[in-house]
This record gives sequence, C-alpha cells and structure tokens, in this order.
Amino acid sequence: MTNLAIARDPTQIAGAGSWDYRVLDVVDSTNTYAARLPPWTAIRAKTQTAGRGRRQERCWVSDVGGLWLSAVLPCPGLRRRWEVLPLAIGWAVVDAVHALGVTTVRLRWPNDVMVGAAKLAGLLVERYTNESAVVGIGLNVFNFPERSLPALVGRTARLADLIRGDYSIDDVAAQVLRSVRKAHNSVLESGFGVIAADLNRGWEKPRRVKITLEGEDVSIDADFHGIDPEGRLRITRGDGAAEAYDAAQVVLLRET
Ligand code: BTN
Repeated sequence: MTNLAIARDPTQIAGAGSWDYRVLDVVDSTNTYAARLPPWTAIRAKTQTAGRGRRQERCWVSDVGGLWLSAVLPCPGLRRRWEVLPLAIGWAVVDAVHALGVTTVRLRWPNDVMVGAAKLAGLLVERYTNESAVVGIGLNVFNFPERSLPALVGRTARLADLIRGDYSIDDVAAQVLRSVRKAHNSVLESGFGVIAADLNRGWEKPRRVKITLEGEDVSIDADFHGIDPEGRLRITRGDGAAEAYDAAQVVLLRET
C-alpha cells in the first residue's frame, strides 16, 4: 500500500485543461448518456443500471463506490487516425493509476488494466459521431464487485486495497481525466508512435496467451509480443511465424 498525493479538482486540472465534469446519481450507462454530449464533457455516475462491457454479451457490474466515467473526446481528421484510441486510453488509465502510487499496474492487450492477474479497470471506447469518441472507464475504487457477481471472486482488484489515504472517487477521476487528455494530446500531435513505444516497453518480455479468433471455434496457444504500429496484437505460434490481429478479430485473450 502506498500513500496518495493527487490533483483534486476534476474540472480544473493544472496543465491539462478543463473538463465539463458532471456527477449523476444513476444512469443506465454513462457511455450511452454521453453519446450526444460535446467534446471535453465527462460524466460520472454513482451507479449504472445497465453498464456495458467490451464484449457484447457482458454487463459491467457498477456498484456504488466505483468510478464509472465517460469522457467525450474530439477526433478531428481521418477516422483511421483515432482507431488507436482504445489502446491509447488503456495507456492513459495505467498512467493515472501509476501516478496514484500503484507501481504494479499494467495493461493486458488491448485495454484491461491489471494488477497481477486481477482486473482493476476496463474500457469501452465508442464512436457515435464522426467528430468525437466516448471513452468509458470502469475502475474499481471502494466498491466490492464480487458481492454483486460472485463469479468475480479473486478476479478483480480495488484501488482501496492498493493505496491508502484520504481520497475520493472525484480525486481519482481528476487523475484519470488528466491522463486521458495527455494521451489525446499525444495522438493529436505525434500520432500513435510515442504511446506505442511506451506500451511495447511494458510488453518486452513475451507472454504465453490463449486467444480465440473471430469465426473460429478452437483457441490458439501463442506468445504475445506487444503491438505493431497500428496497435495490432503481435503473436508467434509454435512454428515461429509472426502474425498480427486487430481487436475486432480477437474474441478472447487469456494469459496462461
Ligand atoms: C470491459 O472491460 O469489458 C469494459 C468495461 C467498461 C465499463 C465502463 S463503466 C463506464 C462506461 N459505461 C459503460 O456502460 N461502460 C463503461
């Protein structure tokens, strides 16, 4: 456990610009709510009745005490340029949690925020318009997801178990929004290169994975080697041949 020292006001974050930050008691999904809001709006709900996960069939447990946040980002220029946003936002949430004092946080491709084998946060990035993206972030803070869904026992992590000190969910939101803006700036100014290189530093050591590809019944055992410049998963199988897949082609990735 580490102690915490962070910027406290999500609406005015020094060096990171300001957000129109609103807190609601309950919504179905903050992503759905934020769909038509303008860029630089951020919506936090204390609970969600229909929080959505990245895989379509998955609902996202959104009990009181967690950070359920959707931030709207401008996406000027070609749509293709912003296809890396899910990875860039994964990088941002890891950056924020690291800044809060959790040095063991890491990203599991494409954007599960992990501590050891337990999931601390998940992301759902959606494009409702050509001009913007909604970045949904679910991060366990003081909540107990396994009480709502016993199948999650042992599979989730909470910030409250990792950092001590006097902090609120809004304090955590402030840090996350600061890092989200930093990632957005980086993609806008230099494309994906800087963030991709940083992510690949964290993925330098090959990791054994089992992946299920879209349209295939059997899973593949492979070694994960980070990402290519487009953010695609790079793997090798037994024969050593290199392959690359984008997030839409990979139904499931498990670390073994
Ligand atoms: C996943 O790992 O499957 C993604 C989970 C994303 C959950 C967040 S909570 C805030 C936002 N609103 C939603 O309905 N989903 C995202």
